[in-house]
Amino acid sequence: MTPQTAQPNDTDEGGDNAEDRVRIFDTTLRDGEQAPGFSMDRRAKLCMAQALETLGVDILEAGFPQASPDDFAAVEEIARSLRHTTVCALARCQTGDIDTAARALERAHRSRIHLFLSTSPLHREHKLGMSKQQVLDTAVASIQHARKYCADVEFSAEDAMRTEPEFLVEVFSAAIASGATTVNVPDTVGYTTPAEIHELFTYLRQHVRDAHKAVFSSHCHDDLGMAVANSLAAVSGGARQVECTINGIGERAGNAALEEIVMALKVRAPRFGLRTNIDTRKLHPTSRLLSQLTGQAVQRNKAVVGDNAFAHESGIHQHGMLKHRSTYEIMRPEDVGIAETTLVLGKHSGRHALRQRLEALGHKLEDADLDGVFKRFKALADRKREIRDEDLEALALGQDPDA
Ligand code: KIV
Ligand code: ZN
Repeated sequence: MTPQTAQPNDTDEGGDNAEDRVRIFDTTLRDGEQAPGFSMDRRAKLCMAQALETLGVDILEAGFPQASPDDFAAVEEIARSLRHTTVCALARCQTGDIDTAARALERAHRSRIHLFLSTSPLHREHKLGMSKQQVLDTAVASIQHARKYCADVEFSAEDAMRTEPEFLVEVFSAAIASGATTVNVPDTVGYTTPAEIHELFTYLRQHVRDAHKAVFSSHCHDDLGMAVANSLAAVSGGARQVECTINGIGERAGNAALEEIVMALKVRAPRFGLRTNIDTRKLHPTSRLLSQLTGQAVQRNKAVVGDNAFAHESGIHQHGMLKHRSTYEIMRPEDVGIAETTLVLGKHSGRHALRQRLEALGHKLEDADLDGVFKRFKALADRKREIRDEDLEALALGQDPDA
């Protein structure tokens, strides 16, 4: 991309923060991939990028082209390959970074340059050695430079949640005046709380000059386990872009988990009144693909996509589920791409689930026979964590599966 070839920005219709759609900005391949244990080679990144486009993310942050030749090549390849999703490249507020990001995005159908600069007192003093005025001037000059390449420019105030709110108003007002079309408010160190971030977004949208000309965005980290709750609170405060990652991977404790935010907005739609473009039936397959590509398992009890998300072992829950699935499930497994609910048989399970599973395996037992099998099943379950179908077959035939 050469200077002066700014393309029309067709992903964002200006900054209508009142609209009912939340843009999903996926940073699995940048902030996510940056975390120890999650790095991916170019082939893996391209494969993941294609899955994310199919999932329906609006913007995909493909990498930080200035970071390494391989990152540059990955962004370039992804930019060339995707058809609908906006491909975004990260850059510091430095001319060299911006030029490199623009070059990596040259072949993209839709592109965005994402600039970031720290604004908090702590970062100004200890990381940048810059005054407030220098931060403002650098942000303005960088946004103007990036706009020569691209009509879609995002500006992030790094460590925004520890920045003086009045200074953030100044920074974002100047950013919008210089051509930023999205302004991002990162909770870089996962420090904020839902009430606090809601208040900040409300304040910023009231006080930033020409706030309606830009999309306000949240970017939450999970150091205190509140990244998803904070992202949703930011949305309630007017954010219409959420930055997140598949399985919540990312720096330190991770970023806000995409699948959790999307399903919270869907399951609690009457409360939020907002929608996303995500095809939720692809959430589980996309989560598994990432796990395969990185070699990192998804924790069993992970919300939405973990193995236990739609599994029930306790007798009381299983009995309830057999009567009506809504007793203990707030979403349908098929809506997130999981085939079906599983009633796991273990020491907490009851007769109803045992009878149901045996019948599914073709063993229709009289009550007295079931009593006997149930007794032996409980004894076995005390020795084994999970009872498999082979164990049940053996029990039904009067054999000892341990023998
Ligand atoms: O956490 C952060 O502040 C970031 C920025 C680059 C947006 O990742
Ligand atoms: Zn981050």
